[in-house]
Amino acid sequence: MDSLSPEVVEPLLTGRFGRPYVYAEQCESTQTLLDRSGPEGSVAVADEQTGGRGRLGRAWEAPAGTSILCSVLLRPPPGPDLAQLSLVGGLAAAETVEEELGLWRSSQIKWPNDVMINRRKVAGVLAEAREGIVALGTGINVNQTRDQLPRDARQPVASLRTTDGREHDRAVLLADLLARLERFYTAWLEGGLDAVFGDLGSRDFLRGRRITVDGVEGVAEGIDREGRLLVAGRAIDSGEVGYER
Ligand code: BTN
Repeated sequence: MDSLSPEVVEPLLTGRFGRPYVYAEQCESTQTLLDRSGPEGSVAVADEQTGGRGRLGRAWEAPAGTSILCSVLLRPPPGPDLAQLSLVGGLAAAETVEEELGLWRSSQIKWPNDVMINRRKVAGVLAEAREGIVALGTGINVNQTRDQLPRDARQPVASLRTTDGREHDRAVLLADLLARLERFYTAWLEGGLDAVFGDLGSRDFLRGRRITVDGVEGVAEGIDREGRLLVAGRAIDSGEVGYER
């Protein structure tokens, strides 16, 4: 198994995200392992979570040592809608996985937090805010075999390994994810969602699909400049999206 220990990951870091770097072989959730009193860019990483959290109270599961399970501490200034940070995190994860696969512009964001490759979910992002401090958690399915992936009745899932048949170095991927997240987050700090709006629009998985969300049914029209999903003349803040496959 490859290692995500500090000795392996820290030399690969290129920016301020990942410092300090806290690693646990096992923890309940990296969202709670993260030290909320640390500086912006502090990171918590684990090889295994016993109570990994997904959006809407769901579980996030992966066998030990197969995936990236990482949380980053953000201290955004008051004002902007912090839900936008799951889109910012999604963009970083989307670029990371497609670069690793060598498939330029192949990944998409399924609003609000899923990263899709070939219409399968490979990563998810969870932004949990308390008192203005955000724990931005990212889970990327990396080296799971098909049998090790969770059966998700809501949508098909994949790992990088089931996508290209190769095993991937998680430390390299993690360092790349942190560098990209720092870049997207800095752009968002300076220019709001407008700064990443083009990227989001070109990666919008739902646009043009018939969906249901929050009791509304219709064709998804895109993501607006506040990060809301547009459907049937409504702007949706959050919810569970069902879509036609
Ligand atoms: C989702 O798709 O519902 C979001 C999944 C987020 C999972 C990551 S794994 C690292 C971090 N720790 C957690 O408990 N959850 C996030």
